[in-house]
This record gives sequence, C-alpha cells and structure tokens, in this order.
Amino acid sequence: MALRNIVKYGDPVLRKKSRVVEKFDSKLATLIDDMIQTMRNADGVGLAAVQVGVLKRVVVIDIGEGVMELVNPEIIEESDDVQVTPEGCLSLPGQTGTTSRPMTVKVKAQDRNGKWYIHKGSELKAKAFCHEIDHLDGILYIDKLVESSED
Ligand code: CO
Repeated sequence: MALRNIVKYGDPVLRKKSRVVEKFDSKLATLIDDMIQTMRNADGVGLAAVQVGVLKRVVVIDIGEGVMELVNPEIIEESDDVQVTPEGCLSLPGQTGTTSRPMTVKVKAQDRNGKWYIHKGSELKAKAFCHEIDHLDGILYIDKLVESSED
C-alpha cells in the first residue's frame, strides 16, 4: 500500500467525468488499498479516485463504522427529507460550506471483485455517498451550497 497525493481544487482533473470500471484486477485492488490509506492519513471520511488523479468510478468511505469500497456506485433511491449541514472536502482543505442533501439514500455498487451490493445510509453516511458519487461526475460540494439556517 502507498499514500497517494490528493489533488487540490483548481486542478482541472476534478471537473472530469470518471470512467466505468470494467476490469476487476489487482491494479484496481491496489488503487482501492492506496485510497483507503490516503483517506485515513488525511483524516477524511471519504475519497474518490479522481482525487488521487485516477478517472475511475471508485469511492472509499469510512465514517467510523468501518471502510466501504464502492466501485461503479449509483444512487438508486433518495429520501424527500433533507439535511442542511456543513460539508467539506479533502481537495479543498480548511474550508466547509452548508449543503442540502437527502437524509437517506440507497446506493448500488460493486466491490473490488465485481460483486454488486446495496448500501443504505442516513445522515453523515448519506451525505458521504452523495458527495463522493458527485466527484465521479466532476461535481464538487461548492456547486451545491445553500444558505445556512443559522445565517
Ligand atoms: Co470531496
């Protein structure tokens, strides 16, 4: 496993669309292992492959309940009720902004071996799913800022 550099805001790669993963090989496994190590080292709760400069639809998330690896993730259901809370990103260090995200989402994704799973998450986990899956389409949380209710 190796630490990879996290791409910072301003690098045009963050605005690119990531490609669907078709090969579930040792290269993919190494990428996922490196992403997990890089996320932990940066004290993050999630990381998308584009943030280490790799345009593949791969995400890792760990909100403190164990690591989840999501290959080719898609949101298949989201709640109408929303959470309006602060959000940050390892590619924009030292900043947060308030976003509105669904309170609960259901995600379909593959693991490193290609097996499909359904994941359900609420609150922080739902926010992490939305944030990281947005990265795969070149979308950043700063595109989705709303006025905080405390303003
Ligand atoms: Co991010």
